[in-house]
Amino acid sequence: MSLLETKNLTKQFGGLTAVDNVTFTVEEGSITGLIGPNGAGKTTVFNLITGIYKVTSGQILFEGVPIHDREPHVIAGMGITRTFQNIRLFRRLSVRDNILTAGHSGARYSVVDSILRTPRYVQEERQLARECERLMDLMDLTEVASSRASSLPYGLQRRLEIARALAVKPKMILLDEPAAGMNPDETMQLMSLISRIRDEFDCTVLVIDHRMDLIMGICENIVVLNFGRKLAEGPPEAVQTNPAVIEAYLGASGEGVAVHA
Ligand SMILES: Nc1ncnc2c1ncn2[C@@H]1O[C@H](COP(=O)(O)OP(=O)(O)OP(=O)(O)O)[C@@H](O)[C@H]1O
Ligand SMILES: [Mg+2]
Repeated sequence: MSLLETKNLTKQFGGLTAVDNVTFTVEEGSITGLIGPNGAGKTTVFNLITGIYKVTSGQILFEGVPIHDREPHVIAGMGITRTFQNIRLFRRLSVRDNILTAGHSGARYSVVDSILRTPRYVQEERQLARECERLMDLMDLTEVASSRASSLPYGLQRRLEIARALAVKPKMILLDEPAAGMNPDETMQLMSLISRIRDEFDCTVLVIDHRMDLIMGICENIVVLNFGRKLAEGPPEAVQTNPAVIEAYLGASGEGVAVHA
């Protein structure tokens, strides 16, 4: 059984079919890429998986369970988390507090525990603090732990957003253009971080990007969208040489890949 499965997924906005009959799977423990030119429907797929948008038709199964009719908080509670194309952070909080706040959403102690500082509360707080340090270490954020999120350069804000998403201990993380705005060095570093997320957090990754090079380097399986439709799906080598994919990316002009938004 696949961890995530979409079946004939369709989303219409008025007369526009943003996602058109898309069927694909994400295997547990994989890094799967979702690529396609601007407006192909990639972010809409994320919004459907996370329940932000209701599907027009089709199904989404997570661990075999239908989730396309569930509310976003229920889907989040099942273990799916995401980052956004436009970074979302608590801008005035420190790096550490951004991560701790996210981690607290999964805490199991009650308000009474926290007021009385019961052993359960103290133990969980310690555990959350340890997890936070581990995440900052992984994401190379320890040096800026006390800095305000808004003061960080763009590449670090992106990494902080991923750390926040991981703080809820997801089974699956959806990354929407995590390398957007990063320079080539930062992008390389991010690619190795994404591999570590899968290995060290036991977390399946579905990652969106326009750029084949980034996706090709880390993904075992790639789903290509174009104008809302699935154009191809398969391992990097097969997708890279697929004539329809080359056509969608190079177009009639043959002048290189789609530019970033
Ligand atoms: N809430 C909405 N209302 C109306 N149209 C929408 C909405 N969200 C997305 N669309 C449209 O659906 C299509 C797919 O958009 P989407 O954001 O999913 O593309 P994308 O592949 O993520 O593109 P990009 O690479 O530019 O981020 C676009 O034509 C977009 O304008
Ligand atoms: Mg998008």
